This record gives sequence, C-alpha cells and structure tokens, in this order.
Amino acid sequence: MTLSISLTVNGVRQDLDLEDPRVTLLDLLRERLILTGTKKGCDRGQCGACTVLVDGRRINSCLALAVSHDGAEILTIEGLATGGRLDPVQTAFIEHDGFQCGFCTPGQIMSAVGLLREDETGDDPERIREGMSGNLCRCGAYAGIAEAVQTARQFLDADETERRTA
Ligand code: FES
Ligand code: FES
Repeated sequence: MTLSISLTVNGVRQDLDLEDPRVTLLDLLRERLILTGTKKGCDRGQCGACTVLVDGRRINSCLALAVSHDGAEILTIEGLATGGRLDPVQTAFIEHDGFQCGFCTPGQIMSAVGLLREDETGDDPERIREGMSGNLCRCGAYAGIAEAVQTARQFLDADETERRTA
C-alpha cells in the first residue's frame, strides 16, 4: 500500500509517496531527498547524530516514522544558513572550534539550535551540558561545543536586542 505524505523540509514543500510505511524520517531525508547532512550513527536513538527539528522541536529522526509527521515542518542542517548567512550556532561552533567528526557535528549543531529555541538553559554551562546530553560524542572538542552554545545564546540575545531597538 502506498501512502502519500507532505512535509515542508527546509522551507520547501515535498509531496512524497511512501511504498513502505515503516520508512524512518532519517532514511527519507537521506535516501529520498538526498539531504545527507543528517547522519546515521547508531540508528537506535542513542547517539543524536540524526537530530533534526520537527515543528521547532528536536527529535532523533532515526526513531521517527516519516508517516507520523505528515504535514510537519522539518529543519535539517542544510536549511540552517539563510541568505548566505550562517546560523549563530554555526558561527559559534566555528569560533570555539566545536567541530567533531562529520558524523557528530551536524547532530550537535541541530541539537544546540533546538535547545536554544526551547529557551530552557540561559547560558548556565551545566544546564547546557544537560540539555545536550542526548548527543553522545565526548571527544576533545566537547568543551568547545559547550562554549559555542553559550556564545550562540549571546548572539541570539544581541540579535533580539537589535531587532527591538531598530
Ligand atoms: S542515529 Fe539516531 S540517535 Fe543515533
Ligand atoms: S565519534 Fe564523532 S568525534 Fe568522536
């Protein structure tokens, strides 16, 4: 049985026919839409490499059935930079050398974007670490990642102040 779903991915509407209703959002993004920035690490919800935003909330796309998100807005790492301008989180990761391997980095960045949008942490380092705890890598770049999220928060606060006073 073929199922039809519609997703808005990085601002572009995608009407898709699914021959297998069990296809995950991760496989759909990578294999049908060729958005391979979202990585498949563990494929079982443990590493966070597959993190994307669905209607503004972060999820592990390897655990999500595409069909259950019919009508949703999806944001992947490819959709973060707009108009040739990096997202503040991307800029902060560059500034703090928060890059890990190509598998971990996109998920870490998307998770940080989601965390800051949830607006739960302020810039408290402990709460940032807790908020990022679903993303597993703990190699030498990790201190840079925690600092990058703090800096991104400051960038966002500065943007907000600029908007309000414009
Ligand atoms: S690939 Fe989804 S959590 Fe590891
Ligand atoms: S597994 Fe990605 S940096 Fe270690």
